[in-house]
Amino acid sequence: LSRFVGLITAAGSGVRLGRGEPKAAARLSGRPLLAWTLDAFASLELDRIVVTAPPDRVAEFAGLVEGRASVVPGGETRSASVRLGVEALGPAADDVVAVHDAARPFVHEEEIRAVLRAAEKSGAAIAAIPVADTIKEAAGGRIVRTLDRSRLWAAATPQAFRGEILARALASGRDATDEASLCEDLGIPVEVVPVSRLGFKITTPEDFEIAEAIVQARHRSRRG
Ligand code: C5P
Repeated sequence: LSRFVGLITAAGSGVRLGRGEPKAAARLSGRPLLAWTLDAFASLELDRIVVTAPPDRVAEFAGLVEGRASVVPGGETRSASVRLGVEALGPAADDVVAVHDAARPFVHEEEIRAVLRAAEKSGAAIAAIPVADTIKEAAGGRIVRTLDRSRLWAAATPQAFRGEILARALASGRDATDEASLCEDLGIPVEVVPVSRLGFKITTPEDFEIAEAIVQARHRSRRG
């Protein structure tokens, strides 16, 4: 029986968020963003979760996770952090590893489950959001062309892989913005699992305002 393990990347500096603290520690309705993201994984009962923290904040992050994960120092880039996190997890060849951005707290538990199941079956699968906008390629401020929207997906997380596939993908050392692209480099098929737009990545101050509104709306609906 394969084990399911999680890696939550939370070592980003949060410069674009502009709060003067790491993004994962920024308070969303009074709780660190990382705590909300761990909530999304809570009912999945993964065998183990490792969180990558900014190297100078490991002790602080160890407090933030409230015993729900182990915390290791991340690296300079997301890709470096993923390598360090996977090293700490030490997955077996047939374990399924879910890599997830701390900056995506609203991914639904059922969506995470669907990605894990797909990766268990096929070896590699990612959460992806169907593109709603018409996407233009531009250069020098002018449109070069319009891409065919019906074929486009915004790559989100979790991205889940059999341990053996993730190890092969990471071995190249290429500094990619996601793990799926490392599989693509090797011609390894990666399944796309559609998720809702709530899988968005909190990046800018505006994203954080939207996140606050989502949390408030959920709070109100819980109270009826
Ligand atoms: O910078 P970006 O928003 O693309 O980061 C995506 C995720 O990767 C975030 O959750 C961030 O904390 C994490 N990250 C990391 N180590 C880095 C940079 C980003 O774990 N050096």
